[in-house]
Amino acid sequence: MSGNRTFTMIKPDAVAAGHIGAILAHINKAGFRIVAMKLTQLSKEKAGEFYAVHKERPFYGELVDFMSSGPIVAAILEKDNAVADFRTTIGATDPAKAEAGTIRALYAKNMGENAVHGSDSDENAAIEGSFHFAGVETF
Ligand code: RTP
Ligand code: MG
Repeated sequence: MSGNRTFTMIKPDAVAAGHIGAILAHINKAGFRIVAMKLTQLSKEKAGEFYAVHKERPFYGELVDFMSSGPIVAAILEKDNAVADFRTTIGATDPAKAEAGTIRALYAKNMGENAVHGSDSDENAAIEGSFHFAGVETF
């Protein structure tokens, strides 16, 4: 099934702004099936672990503080070519550069508080999915 799944989080800004329902509807309309999902909150430690790949970047501290600042929705999504298609569905990291109609263009506040996460490779999608979900929570 490699290539058919990606991992997403609706980030604290979008949850706080009441966009969970609209973003999930957008994801479904774009052809993704939700195979696992939960409302949860990352501790600082867990957020740091999740984004460890960015440890040396200047925005790492800010990113960890933000991602642990409130509840998130974590989900595993299924579709052919899931990773690449979901990156297209969410748009560029900076919402000012995100294509019109993408989730970030519609709901993100700025580069840091950008509404959603999307995995960047099949390998990371599998790692990130199992970071949040046990096999029995995946349908
Ligand atoms: P994500 O991993 O959350 O899906 O975002 P992405 O691939 O589009 O962007 P990435 O380069 O992986 O960066 C991860 C998250 O770090 C925050 N960021 N802030 N202030 C900045 O310059 C900056 N750059 C990145 C964003 O929240 C970005 O989504
Ligand atoms: Mg990324």
